[in-house]
Amino acid sequence: MKTKEVKKKIRSTRKIDGWLSLEAGLLIAALNECQNNNKIDGDIFEIGVHHGKSTVLFANLLTPSQSISVCDIFDSQTNNISQSGSGNKVTFERNVKSHSNIKVKNIYSCLSSELDIKDIGNNFRMFHIDGGHNNSEALPDLILASQAIVDQGIIIVDDPFRSEWPGVTEAIINFLNDHQEFTAVVVGFNKLIICKTEVSDLYLDFLDELENRSRYELAYPFSYKKLPFLNSDLRIFYTLSFVNTNAIKTKLKKKLIHSNFYKWYKKRQ
Ligand SMILES: C[S@@+](CC[C@H](N)C(=O)[O-])C[C@H]1O[C@@H](n2cnc3c(N)ncnc32)[C@H](O)[C@@H]1O
Repeated sequence: MKTKEVKKKIRSTRKIDGWLSLEAGLLIAALNECQNNNKIDGDIFEIGVHHGKSTVLFANLLTPSQSISVCDIFDSQTNNISQSGSGNKVTFERNVKSHSNIKVKNIYSCLSSELDIKDIGNNFRMFHIDGGHNNSEALPDLILASQAIVDQGIIIVDDPFRSEWPGVTEAIINFLNDHQEFTAVVVGFNKLIICKTEVSDLYLDFLDELENRSRYELAYPFSYKKLPFLNSDLRIFYTLSFVNTNAIKTKLKKKLIHSNFYKWYKKRQ
């Protein structure tokens, strides 16, 4: 899916209640291209879908032979102990149907702690975790994801380092300390990407390339740096404190930097 199509798709879902930002969608689409370039095949799984905003994006990244499955407690909200979102199955199904051509393969209407690797399988190239936000909920989700992804697959964790959700951070640290074969590769736009350490270069080489970040509009006004985090050199997308991403000046500069004219001009220099 090209940048223009991703933007169009995400914008078309603006009326769907949910938490997926445009930039998070672009980062996921960039990682999807990296997987396609490296012929990484597999399905997609999501824990925590609310009204389907993130599912619509993932559904649109699938090739015809791939599928998406999801888990949410939906109408059993008394089990939502961390009170993150509030799934609704009817709204979810309606939104996915009207924004994609995909039929969700399996909808597990249960607590994610009730999922079993034997039932969901282990053929996922992307596994998105956005369900319960306490350590007691997110840690088992991470462990399940680590068993369910293909060797070169990725785990995408929502709300990794937010003061509102310390339990997610706690789960990430616990998971990475106990599973040294996994590494956190990149954080940005409220998503943390984790993969097996032995394949992390595949994703890092792709993201370290300015041209790739730029193609997905993840360069200016965003900065990119690496800092140590647990056992890795974590790549970080962030915004400099003096840059106002909503200012007209920033938007004009961004338009210019991403224009074909600017790319042509830079190549000539
Ligand atoms: C933050 S919302 C998901 C948002 C969605 N990914 C999006 O981008 O719009 C969290 C969802 O997780 C569900 N949930 C909360 N705790 C859960 C659990 N333990 N197991 C499964 N689903 C859970 C809630 O019902 C809610 O729909």
